[in-house]
Amino acid sequence: MPSALDSFRLDGRLALVTGASRGIGQAIATALAEAGAELVLTSRKVEAAQAVASALEQAGHRATAIACHNGRESDIDALFGRIRSEWGRLDVLVNNAATNPLFGPMSMADQGAITKTFEVNVNGMLFCTQRAAAIMADQAERPGGRGSIVNIASVAGLEPMPGIGVYSATKAAVINLTRGFANELAAAGIRVNAIAPGLVETKFAAALIETPEIAEQALRRIPLGRFGQPHAIGGAALFLASAASSYVTGSVLVVSGGYL
Ligand SMILES: NC(=O)c1ccc[n+]([C@@H]2O[C@H](COP(=O)([O-])OP(=O)(O)OC[C@H]3O[C@@H](n4cnc5c(N)ncnc54)[C@H](OP(=O)(O)O)[C@@H]3O)[C@@H](O)[C@H]2O)c1
Repeated sequence: MPSALDSFRLDGRLALVTGASRGIGQAIATALAEAGAELVLTSRKVEAAQAVASALEQAGHRATAIACHNGRESDIDALFGRIRSEWGRLDVLVNNAATNPLFGPMSMADQGAITKTFEVNVNGMLFCTQRAAAIMADQAERPGGRGSIVNIASVAGLEPMPGIGVYSATKAAVINLTRGFANELAAAGIRVNAIAPGLVETKFAAALIETPEIAEQALRRIPLGRFGQPHAIGGAALFLASAASSYVTGSVLVVSGGYL
């Protein structure tokens, strides 16, 4: 039985983080690497993911950047094909990549943008989970299980946020898929959990945080009185990725400063 602190270690594990070139994905990749994992980082613009991978390598970790558009099934197939052929295993998948091209009332939302949001946030996460589970199910069990899948949802998936209704619906789907996959994959020894961040200071949230009326209204609802920083999500992801959470599956960990 490892000590409580050792159960957070990920030495010898391979972890894939999608959308890891900045923001929350970068913070999660850094936390997992610091715990000993080897990282595969994806984003559409591979140069940015490569910069994160290079910084991790300079700090003494192992990291590889691969281009992958989460809205393209062929990219996802190529990514997991490469993981199977080059590493032959996958211990942790963090489904972090997401998009939100829509701000404003849902009744005015453009059909193409709605489709894109669902393709990246829901279908992409679902396809990655299917392919990761197929690799994980074939590998030997280790402390914490055969694999851990961590889905980055949002408080908007638990309570729709005004102005981002379509995005909120995709995150509700992510939470529902988390619970469904947790049930379906438990027998294979694969755990599936979600994190629901509140407002975290990244490029993604800039449109909300940099609009004074929205920011002030949001801050009034956050008991801790401040927006989140990406590293706070990194710590939560490390807990769910590692054997520290070996008896946790199908859960949604809300990291929102008390917003929910
Ligand atoms: N920030 C918040 O307040 C907040 C709150 C709740 C939940 N979240 C969730 O946290 C996750 C990360 O958000 P963030 O705030 O860190 O955003 P961010 O700073 O904008 O980073 C997004 C990352 O995803 C990648 N990405 C975007 N579209 C992609 C696509 N179609 N395929 C593959 N990669 C893609 C981006 O790289 P490329 O552009 O190069 O592809 C980048 O690496 C998302 O799931 C988001 O919904 C964020």
